[in-house]
Amino acid sequence: MRLNSGIFWVLLILATFVGLGDCFWPWPFVKKHKDNAPPTPPPPPKLSPVIFVPGDGGSQLDARLNKNNSPYFVCEKTHDWYNLWLDLEQLVIPMVYCWIDNVKLYYDKATRTTHNTPGVETRIPGWGDPEVVEWIDPTRNSAGAYFKDIANVLVDMGYVRRLNIHGAPYDFRKAPNENKQFFIDLKQLVEDTYEANNQSAVTFITHSMGSPMTLVFLQEQTLAWKNKYVRRQISLAGAWAGSIKAVKVFAMGDDLDSFALSAKILKAEQITHPSTAWLLPSPLFWKPSEVLAMTPSRNYTMAQLQDFFYDLDYMTGWEMRKDTMRYTQNFSPPDVELHCLYGDGIDTVERLQYKKSDISGETPKLIMGLGDGTVNQRSLRACQYWSGYSSSHINTLALQGVDHMKILAHPDVLKYVRTVMEQP
Ligand SMILES: *[C@@H]1O[C@H](CO)[C@@H](O)[C@H](O)[C@H]1NC(C)=O
Ligand SMILES: *[C@@H]1O[C@H](CO)[C@@H](O)[C@H](O)[C@H]1NC(C)=O
Repeated sequence: MRLNSGIFWVLLILATFVGLGDCFWPWPFVKKHKDNAPPTPPPPPKLSPVIFVPGDGGSQLDARLNKNNSPYFVCEKTHDWYNLWLDLEQLVIPMVYCWIDNVKLYYDKATRTTHNTPGVETRIPGWGDPEVVEWIDPTRNSAGAYFKDIANVLVDMGYVRRLNIHGAPYDFRKAPNENKQFFIDLKQLVEDTYEANNQSAVTFITHSMGSPMTLVFLQEQTLAWKNKYVRRQISLAGAWAGSIKAVKVFAMGDDLDSFALSAKILKAEQITHPSTAWLLPSPLFWKPSEVLAMTPSRNYTMAQLQDFFYDLDYMTGWEMRKDTMRYTQNFSPPDVELHCLYGDGIDTVERLQYKKSDISGETPKLIMGLGDGTVNQRSLRACQYWSGYSSSHINTLALQGVDHMKILAHPDVLKYVRTVMEQP
């Protein structure tokens, strides 16, 4: 999800340490050398190459401007390629209004696709390079740190960036239906990485929306291809079944926590992302009768989400939901070894409560439930569902009090990743 708070916002306590290592992972039996036999040198470790798949807001985005109009006179109309996402300096008033105009999308109901503001071109830099997902802000402002701690653990184990550590950034504003080229490129990256590393199968390390993105990719591959090219997936805070947070974003936007920004201002941009619609709660994990939003005169249940968008006066959100529903409905297992790690025990929005019956202009109160602060518990845990449906090994680990973003740097997680990656 987004960096800060997760659904997309990069700019987003005490872990119950459930015996990593020995309990879950059979350590290779170590033979003792006979006292007088010369010790044989250990063979060089065969490392499974790693590909990071980031979440919502977890890729850099460049823009080039050649606009006829701009929302304010302070906004530039022309500019050569520059970093749009995420340069924190652009997120201050009034520059944030220029930024929103350059990053927002427009939905075309006829083609069921989105496009940029006229005169704005965008591209995702650094395909294959891990550093573009280690740091979302290229100036390496610490608020933009992403996969860097995990990458550093791998380097410490003998991994080399761009040889056996890669990044797979993508246009996170869009859902899988508009990311077809990403899935084609990802398959090529996997095969090329496999060949470049002495035919070693790759490990995906995924975060938040990157976990269901990888699921969509794996569902589209044959079992034979996966057995050959994919060693495993390590998912951190996977938003497997969406999140009520996406409902909140459509209703009121989301402040990028650490930025002290106005949710209301950012909402204008956030609600235009089809990925936010894809991340709405899944009907496979929320019952039709469950109440998502309450007003004095009526409730909006899961089955009445369409009414909710109608009353918000944003039917585009509902159209984008329909476009992505086929991905939500397919919950077949990834059929690769899966490590499903997530934080738990943190207040996470579960329902919206409005004081008035007209929801279009009002900011609701948030009713909290459990999760990792961004994704609800049932969505984080949804990976457990596959245990009965897949012959591939699935291991889940809940970390109490670990937030959606902090999981990427948590010592127990870093230790877990190291232990798993030591298995060839
Ligand atoms: C590649 O793997 C084979 C078989 O495991 C091994 O004999 C060979 O030394 C490896 N080559 C390199 C460059 O690691
Ligand atoms: C809305 O849902 C809540 C919780 O299920 C329930 O207590 C309340 O009576 C409902 N309100 C209306 C107006 O139906």
